[in-house]
Amino acid sequence: MNASPTEELDFEIRASRNPVPADARAQLLTDPGFGRVFTDHMATIRWSEAKGWHDARVEPYGPIALDPAAQVFHYGQEIFEGLKAYAQPNRSVAAFRPHANAARFNRSAARMAMPELPESVFVRAIELLVEHDRDWVPTADGHSLYLRPFAIATKVGLGVNHPSSDYLFTLIASPVAGYFGGEVKPVTVWLSEDYTRAAPGGTGEAKCGGNYAAAFAGQQQAVDHGCDQVVWLDAAQRQWVEEMGGMNVCFVYGSGSDARIMTPALTGSLLPGITRDSLLKLGPDLGIPAYEGKLSVAEWRSDCASGEITEVFACGTAAVITPIGAVRSAGGDWMIGDGTAGPVTSLLRDELVGIQYGRKADRYGWMHAIA
Ligand code: PLP
Ligand code: COI
Repeated sequence: MNASPTEELDFEIRASRNPVPADARAQLLTDPGFGRVFTDHMATIRWSEAKGWHDARVEPYGPIALDPAAQVFHYGQEIFEGLKAYAQPNRSVAAFRPHANAARFNRSAARMAMPELPESVFVRAIELLVEHDRDWVPTADGHSLYLRPFAIATKVGLGVNHPSSDYLFTLIASPVAGYFGGEVKPVTVWLSEDYTRAAPGGTGEAKCGGNYAAAFAGQQQAVDHGCDQVVWLDAAQRQWVEEMGGMNVCFVYGSGSDARIMTPALTGSLLPGITRDSLLKLGPDLGIPAYEGKLSVAEWRSDCASGEITEVFACGTAAVITPIGAVRSAGGDWMIGDGTAGPVTSLLRDELVGIQYGRKADRYGWMHAIA
């Protein structure tokens, strides 16, 4: 179900007649939290077997009416992305690596037997929505406009012999502060040994809603144990660290000029994070070798005890770079370093965030200027 990569679509613009008034918007922007506040518009595009992608619009944000027998409700054929747009010092707005999200969206689409969307259309939807809702792009320190593109199966019918013949792509935008609250403070993670997130041959490397639905029970256990996030182990041997509920994980070995970072290799069952990929490039630029590897829970624990692992952090669009201070599990708890944010974590965070907010040189051309 490949769409032609050169396909272009004209978006019809239907401006909201009831945009949030400026003073109410300013109030909402003071403390937006994460994914609670939404802008005035959304972008939508429909797909059918007969027409391909068509009926592209920017329209007022609002409920979507669907038949109760639409396939997404029953068989969960859904994919999504997450990326951010940032206010720049020159008052423009730029999105971080939107083409990488477009490419991952299409890899997810292929895995879920859904039609691919030309990258140019994915990025155009982002440009148009951000242009129309640019007053919603936060300027407060550490805030940004989180963009959530997603696609759902809308064919009416309960048969499962074929994937849906109709889909709806939608892009919504949400001004956000930090995912774990205002300041950057270390989080505590829970090792999930009862549940796994993704198995070989499954959908772990696709960004589909079902992965997150299946993860809630483990995430709830994490919360019940006083933790912020769940850490997933591989499904086959239940010993190799894969990733977290909504972010990848990086381990810092050594310190000072000997420091190096390792992130679990992409085995097919973890999400290929764009932040993770960016850090594999930025680490070496800062003199910190970065590589993909493999770490068991037993090694994680013993390497923390011996001091070989000095820092561990989570990385992702929502998480940015968040230090991990301690690990809890049914078999015992351990600290990472002294439980505070380490220097390598802080250095990488400053570099990444500096590029995203236009304060540091964008050596790789990652920032896509929009408005
Ligand atoms: N792993 C999972 C399960 C995620 O949901 C995310 C977030 O998108 C990530 C990793 C990090 O990916 P990215 O850096 O592209 O946001
Ligand atoms: C993101 O970082 O974009 C995510 O998808 C994580 C989470 C909010 C699901």
